[in-house]
Amino acid sequence: MNHTTQLVLLCRPGFEKECAGEIMDYASNLGFPAYIQTNTDTGYVLLIGTAEPNISELLQQLDFRQLIFTRQWFASLPRLDDLPEQNRIAPLMTVIKSLQREFNDIELDYPDTNEGKSISRFCKQFEPHLLNALKKQKLLSAHADQRLHILFLNSQQAYIGSSPMENSAHTAMGIPRLRMPSSAPSRSTLKLEEAIHWFITDESKYIKNGMTAVDLGAAPGGWSWQLVQRGLLVTAIDNGPMDAQLMSGGMVEHLKTDAFTYRPKKAIDWLVCDMAERPLHVSNLIAKWFTRKDCRNAIFNLKLPMKKRLQTVNECIALLHHALEEENIPHQLQAKHLYHDREEITLCIMTS
Ligand SMILES: C[S@@+](CC[C@H](N)C(=O)[O-])C[C@H]1O[C@@H](n2cnc3c(N)ncnc32)[C@H](O)[C@@H]1O
Repeated sequence: MNHTTQLVLLCRPGFEKECAGEIMDYASNLGFPAYIQTNTDTGYVLLIGTAEPNISELLQQLDFRQLIFTRQWFASLPRLDDLPEQNRIAPLMTVIKSLQREFNDIELDYPDTNEGKSISRFCKQFEPHLLNALKKQKLLSAHADQRLHILFLNSQQAYIGSSPMENSAHTAMGIPRLRMPSSAPSRSTLKLEEAIHWFITDESKYIKNGMTAVDLGAAPGGWSWQLVQRGLLVTAIDNGPMDAQLMSGGMVEHLKTDAFTYRPKKAIDWLVCDMAERPLHVSNLIAKWFTRKDCRNAIFNLKLPMKKRLQTVNECIALLHHALEEENIPHQLQAKHLYHDREEITLCIMTS
């Protein structure tokens, strides 16, 4: 029997409202009676089911990749309070056994807040002990399709539950561990690297040596650098200066011109765009690149406004779908608030 009565969703602190609004829309459209419990800047949201169907079934019915603002999710039992300072294993194992299933893997979570980060060391030390206890009880199995989650809020309080391995984030808490490459011109390079890993599951099929790309708002060149690493020939559009070392490699042509008026002479494989402009303005620009058949694929950022962030995101996505559908362009559009994104989200449109 399934006793999990709520979903725990992790997000970037400050984006609880968007994370909550989005999951609530899906829950009500799919017929799951539920309500939200959350507080600003906590880095997590609870979706509490109130009647059948059990809210944990939402994890089977909704594709995790459709969620923009959720980094990780799991179906959870009600919060466990009063965990003892010593020997937390025993009470935790009692609760874990009540889930009545085996697990493929475990993930010890904590909110992405300062308080949360102070728990990270405890989680690292605790994980091998928990794994041992699970092994002893024969609760770990390579054939199981669920991952065990424990979200520690502090040393006494935790949410315990599980997520489907194939329909959740594959990196702990949805946070990719990327190392800043020493020769990349800006930290922003990690945003495009994360985007490529997240959106393009079969990278070698879609990003190939010798392909062409345009980078709108390219300076100093962190995004162009990622493309050059993959063997693409890049046209970088920006009035600002590009990194000298990147330019010396001969793979990048720099044009000091306005990104909103530039057009390539021939259709390109990849358009990327990282400009802090109004989101509808950028969406219209990207739509134009596709409808004029100037690009086949694109990865770009939308800077979020201070207010009505979810509404703006939905409007931009609707605009893009509509523009491409009007021209009968089959496409796949994905969007994510990536770990390396702050006040923006990243989108990927692929037509090839
Ligand atoms: C956030 S930075 C891009 C950083 C870059 N992706 C990287 O990884 O190094 C935004 C850039 O957009 C450029 N930009 C903004 N509006 C532009 C426009 N209308 N035309 C061309 N460049 C523009 C700015 O000059 C700035 O260099």
